[in-house]
Amino acid sequence: MKRLFFIVLTFITQVFAQPETLNLMPVPQKLYVNGTAFKLTEKFTTGVINNKSLKLIKGLNRFLTRLSGRTGFFLEHPFVKTGAAPDSVDFYIRYAKVTNPKLFVDESYKLSIDSNKIILDAKTDIGALRGIETLLQLLDADSTGYFFTGVEITDKPRFPWRGLMIDVCRHFMPLDVILRNIDAMAAVKLNVLHLHLSEDQGFRIECKTFPKLHQLGSDGFYFTQEDIKKIINYASERGIRVVPEFDIPGHATSWLVAYPEFASMSGPYKLQRDWGIFDPVFDPTNEKTYEFFDAFFAEMTKLFPDEYFHIGGDENNGKQWSLNPEIRKFMQENKIENTEELQAYFNSKIVKILNKYGKKMVGWDEILHPGIPKNIVIQSWRGKEGLINAAKNGYNVILSNGYYIDLIQPASFHYLNDPIPADIDLSDDEKKLILGGEATMWSEFVSPETIDSRIWPRTAAIAERLWSPRIINDVDDMYRRLETVGFRLEELGITHIKNYGMMLRRLTNNRDILPLKTLVDVLEPVKFYNRNKLRKQTQQSPLTRVVDAARPDAAAARNFRRMITTYLNTDDELIETKIKNQLKLWVKNHKAVVKLAATSPVLSEILPQSENLKNVAGIGLTALRYLDKKVLPDKEWLRKAETVLTGARKPVAQTELMIIDGIGNLIQKLSNQGN
Ligand code: ACM
Repeated sequence: MKRLFFIVLTFITQVFAQPETLNLMPVPQKLYVNGTAFKLTEKFTTGVINNKSLKLIKGLNRFLTRLSGRTGFFLEHPFVKTGAAPDSVDFYIRYAKVTNPKLFVDESYKLSIDSNKIILDAKTDIGALRGIETLLQLLDADSTGYFFTGVEITDKPRFPWRGLMIDVCRHFMPLDVILRNIDAMAAVKLNVLHLHLSEDQGFRIECKTFPKLHQLGSDGFYFTQEDIKKIINYASERGIRVVPEFDIPGHATSWLVAYPEFASMSGPYKLQRDWGIFDPVFDPTNEKTYEFFDAFFAEMTKLFPDEYFHIGGDENNGKQWSLNPEIRKFMQENKIENTEELQAYFNSKIVKILNKYGKKMVGWDEILHPGIPKNIVIQSWRGKEGLINAAKNGYNVILSNGYYIDLIQPASFHYLNDPIPADIDLSDDEKKLILGGEATMWSEFVSPETIDSRIWPRTAAIAERLWSPRIINDVDDMYRRLETVGFRLEELGITHIKNYGMMLRRLTNNRDILPLKTLVDVLEPVKFYNRNKLRKQTQQSPLTRVVDAARPDAAAARNFRRMITTYLNTDDELIETKIKNQLKLWVKNHKAVVKLAATSPVLSEILPQSENLKNVAGIGLTALRYLDKKVLPDKEWLRKAETVLTGARKPVAQTELMIIDGIGNLIQKLSNQGN
């Protein structure tokens, strides 16, 4: 009976409302929930059409490990059967072609589940890998046991370039960080890992031709070429491309520490230890610079198989070029009007070298300049105009503006940042030039311990934006699914949840973390570029403080704000009671945090924030009392309350208290009553 109701409801949902989304992220292009379920038992068998794709066989065996890991099943057939007859297994996988990850590879698949059978059909083995992740997201359970929800899915990505950039330079991220993040990327169908490998603060890859690069430019923290091969292979097995970035001609201090002869001003140079835009830049007027890059790219283009090769190109302030009389003379003689044109000259030489080695050039906004060949890709980061401008001028482009996950904005913001919004001013042909986008994880303020919590789970929302249809844009439904998809990433070794407790234990010196957790649950690190403005940090500054434990898009605070909204819209008593209990807990919590700080001096900086939480919660309780009694608030109280809320909005120890808007809405309602 329940099942029938479910079918009818599903049917109505399909026809009239938001598409059914289950716990799928990204949501497939076409999904029909057929009302059946495939019951999972230890007898479950898996078979693939042939043994030609080792990456699919490995992917299926990982699937079976994850399945038994979630269910506790001692599977009787824990390895995939190759060349099995379709009827001889429960889960049958068919694909037409073995492929390597590359741009425009066919990632489509069809997944059909009913009570008897699961069939996955794909054009390529990579498409099959995408379908396997969907199947894992369909695993569910009820009192009768584990089952896969019955569906018919026809799926393919909206965009072919769906990336995550990791900056391994500001803070080096060792191999294990990269590998576990590749697994997480695969789980949400991202397909490009962009490694930002050179910066003012570090040169992070072994170079055999110019070994001083990694020897002098890295403090010893760099990927060996064997590491890089492992990364590429690991990614490739998951259908993920690896695009390297060597940022030139600016952001180049680490290169010039090793080879100052290619700089625009005489050295010596030393590694930059803090954050910002710095002057050191390659000399574009020196032919030896290009001989150096020719030899460098000869080596690196062999190491990285992807057709695309990123040369950065961002934020060259041009100062050294303007200050050097020789360079100024070169510009005059060659009728180069300004430093942007000089960079275009540099790029025009670099692109030829890359083309010679069979690579297509990618670069940030700044490389777009009249005359640059059309086979490059622009990565738009400064604003939407960059994307529109690139497409209007006939260039392929990927969007990163709006996907800067280092800026600590909520998942909802990134989620609604569509590369091709309905009202975009582009022709259909121009729209086709937009290949997708990339989340960017700049690493000024992350360590191997905290990076996962900055990438995940928000990047799953970006992954959906780049895979699913534009009309899949219900923020509440996204957050509902993000909760499940986010915690599932732990099975792949992602540390965004477990490291939180670990960091709180360190901060409390292994005492009861609950009071601190209660506070930090509703804090977020300050947003945008404010962290460094509030307190200058360097590469060696600790990344273990409360601000580092605090997570972007704090779920507890978001849920509280949502409760307040619901209460204000419905006057629901049950919700009001919940809010009151929460507020009372926050009022009481301060005393316990003070006690913790007495023997954990590292916590003293956060006490004013704990006090803010207490005061703001107290105001919330009083506001609710006024609302309950339907009496107008005392004017003096109202004035004071607003002063406290305003004061509490000021960051403390680089954190923001995220419940103030909720309490502010209660006050607003009170004020409105008075009008
Ligand atoms: C950039 O964020 N400078 C590309």
